[in-house]
Amino acid sequence: MTTSLASTPQPSETPRHPHRNDDALVRTVGAGHIYGEGQRAVVAVRGITKEVRRGDRIAVTGPSGSGKSTLLYLLAGIETPTSGSIEWPEFGASPVGRPTYMGMVYQGSSLLPALDVTENVALPLVLAGSTEAAARDRAHRALRTLGIFSLADKLPDELSGGQAQRVAVARVLATEPELILADEPTGQLDHGTGTEVIDALLAVADHVDAALVVSTHDPAITVRLRTEWRLIDGALTGERTRRAQP
Ligand SMILES: Nc1ncnc2c1ncn2[C@@H]1O[C@H](COP(=O)(O)OP(=O)(O)OP(=O)(O)O)[C@@H](O)[C@H]1O
Ligand SMILES: [Mg+2]
Repeated sequence: MTTSLASTPQPSETPRHPHRNDDALVRTVGAGHIYGEGQRAVVAVRGITKEVRRGDRIAVTGPSGSGKSTLLYLLAGIETPTSGSIEWPEFGASPVGRPTYMGMVYQGSSLLPALDVTENVALPLVLAGSTEAAARDRAHRALRTLGIFSLADKLPDELSGGQAQRVAVARVLATEPELILADEPTGQLDHGTGTEVIDALLAVADHVDAALVVSTHDPAITVRLRTEWRLIDGALTGERTRRAQP
């Protein structure tokens, strides 16, 4: 598969972000998260104060169980911090249920098995109020842009792991969110397929002028992103900024 966006985006008549400024899309203030209570309590994330701005390309790294998924869920508003707070200054409120603000690629398969690929990609748009015809049209455009239109009529069962993850990326592209979160999107893929998925994510983030946050174990992916947040046992232990490799 070609890994760059296959079609050149048409310039829109109105700027995509008319109120664009340097504000954070999401800001955590001493945010922590504990699962469970009492003796069963597990501290997953500890006191993190960070911002994600438009244009950021961030890898969240750390060993298994270090809190990467939980941090992404906090940034997404899917989990609520049990200490500290999270703000979405540009969105006004949590982006949950607002697919044009936030799109997430999950660690495992997240496609609905009863819906075909087009319907899966179109679903968030329909839920956000698009007509079915308009949503299908946008879904087809996203699939074409990512070079996977041939999968449009397939059911999730008929897809390989890499194809399913690319469809999940297309589902994000279709809604053109400002904040893209991807939780180990290449965790179950071989190196070549993983590279294609990360290429697709980077291309989508550039295309829609979004912020991209990717959790990963893979150093080959980390070097593709400018910034690295390293988690150990729920705490942010280091941040590194580098010139991202093409
Ligand atoms: N729903 C849950 N209930 C209780 N504990 C949980 C839950 N989800 C995660 N945890 C615990 O919180 C900690 C952080 O988990 P998290 O899934 O955020 O780690 P991770 O860095 O994403 O790991 P991995 O690399 O394996 O995906 C772990 O100790 C985990 O066992
Ligand atoms: Mg995880």
